[in-house]
Amino acid sequence: MQTMRRQRVALLKVMNILDYEKDTNADWEEIAQNNPYWGVLTDDRFLGKSLPSDVLDEFFESGRREIAGIVSVWDGFNKHKLGTVLDFGSGVGRLLIPMAAYAEKAVGIEISKSMVAELKKNLKRQKVENVKVYMTCEELLKRNPGISFNWINSQIVFQHIQPEIGYKILEELLKALNIGGYLSLHFNIFKTLSSFSSGGIFQQTDSRTLSALYVDNDTAMGTMQMYDYDLNKIYYLLLKYGVSEFRGVSSNHGEHYTICILGQRTDYTMLYTPENHAFLKNAGSWSKAVVNVSGFSNPESWGTWTDSKEATVSFYMLPELCGKKLRMRLKLRAFFSIDNEQSVKLFVNNIEVSSILFDNSYDNEYIINIQPDIIKNDRYLTVKFEIGSPTSPNTVGTSGDTRKLGVGVVNMDINPG
Ligand SMILES: C[S@@+](CC[C@H](N)C(=O)[O-])C[C@H]1O[C@@H](n2cnc3c(N)ncnc32)[C@H](O)[C@@H]1O
Repeated sequence: MQTMRRQRVALLKVMNILDYEKDTNADWEEIAQNNPYWGVLTDDRFLGKSLPSDVLDEFFESGRREIAGIVSVWDGFNKHKLGTVLDFGSGVGRLLIPMAAYAEKAVGIEISKSMVAELKKNLKRQKVENVKVYMTCEELLKRNPGISFNWINSQIVFQHIQPEIGYKILEELLKALNIGGYLSLHFNIFKTLSSFSSGGIFQQTDSRTLSALYVDNDTAMGTMQMYDYDLNKIYYLLLKYGVSEFRGVSSNHGEHYTICILGQRTDYTMLYTPENHAFLKNAGSWSKAVVNVSGFSNPESWGTWTDSKEATVSFYMLPELCGKKLRMRLKLRAFFSIDNEQSVKLFVNNIEVSSILFDNSYDNEYIINIQPDIIKNDRYLTVKFEIGSPTSPNTVGTSGDTRKLGVGVVNMDINPG
């Protein structure tokens, strides 16, 4: 009877957990309000809102040591000062501050307001002036569209974020890593039974899948969650964003087995699909390889108009296309001026490759050969359209549209020539 009752209670607890969406962001704010340093390193010496100066020194010394250990792995790292670096889940700045010493500009992302407040105090105390902090990736990207980094770090952070959210964040971070940029990311992968001294036994590869069935009630506000990540998924994302060579440093944090991935992004992607070569296909949207577009209007059902004198599209080159003779295929239509003319000059990496004088406004295909010396080993390729006579439909009286149209791009792809 008693056994059945115990089983029922255990089952109810599990159901409770599965139904419960833990707000880990709120937990972190709760922790940081009273114990910001302990929240980072859960050692009793770091309890409290502020620490004696010798304990504070010890806390920051641990960060300096950790960052020095990470960068010592990368040959050539110390030889140059990096441009912009990012620490995701920067807490009170234990790692962000030493990272900032290697960079012109350092950025932290930190979800808890109280952590950010303490971090700002530490920046002031340590006279560090090249650091900016944002609360989320969205806020960072909104305020700095197109920002990218030469080093992205995150230590003991993903383990506290539900994996289904964490993989999305990881993808955002990888997208923002420059080719050649460094990466140091830490994840929990699994835990053994003895890590559950305070109660549960489970392996949690997402926030709703528990693979063993005794779970203590850890739903209380302000408790730290520990989530495991799937190495297969991490590996797939690393390859998707061109990080093919990396080292995994394993640790055991109280029977939580973790990995710190130390690598470098060498390519745009390691997942080769024919689609990567098409930069604008039937105008649905620009391909993911496109990193920057300017002077174009929003894509329509048939294609995309240029809407200024100059329009550019830049994209990462697949490694297999670098330094090769290439063939750019463009399907274009023209919007004619009041004098019934339109033309475009095309430039690749600022070198003129073609000039077209349109004699009709239908969709026509143009093939443009690009010589290897134009691309060399650049990983970016920029195509510029210089429009002869940008003209609005309003001026020629065909509609009230005031956009200064020139050339409509229907298709654009680049392949070995
Ligand atoms: C254990 S602390 C580690 C801090 C820092 N990485 C270090 O090692 O010194 C985890 C930090 O990640 C932050 N954090 C948790 N979830 C986050 C999220 N979704 N976005 C940004 N920061 C987050 C927490 O507020 C906390 O400051």
